[in-house]
Amino acid sequence: MRTVLTFGTFDVFHVGHLRILERAAAMGDRLVVGVSSDALNIAKKGRAPVFPEGERQRLVAALRCVDDVFLEESLELKREYLLRHRADVLAMGDDWLGRFDEFSDICRVVYFERTPAISTTAVIEKIRL
Ligand code: CTP
Repeated sequence: MRTVLTFGTFDVFHVGHLRILERAAAMGDRLVVGVSSDALNIAKKGRAPVFPEGERQRLVAALRCVDDVFLEESLELKREYLLRHRADVLAMGDDWLGRFDEFSDICRVVYFERTPAISTTAVIEKIRL
């Protein structure tokens, strides 16, 4: 059983989110997703997510390609989360390129190309206009 782990906010769910989750799932037998907490998102991106953490977790957990979700409460706990969930692969978008190479001692680290021209921020802007 090969477990793949990925992390993200997944707020205002869009096709870029779906594509990274599908590609991550294809790297193994089981995909576990760490969904960033509201507090972490405020610290990381300077704004509260549109959808609260419980709803974002439920939406991600309901996807066919996702086997399990948990709440990511701190960026500092990545190693602990990887060990706790017995991750064989850490999959991240290439906006994080190189930033997680330090974990290659405990799992394989892969970066996927971001889907062009879409982001939560862009969707929020589009709706605002
Ligand atoms: N992602 C992607 N392609 C996009 C947008 C996001 O592959 N067009 C990936 C990110 O690389 C990350 C995951 O989806 O691994 C979750 O990203 P998240 O930060 O939740 O989404 P963004 O749309 O980037 O959000 P924001 O605009 O708030 O930064």
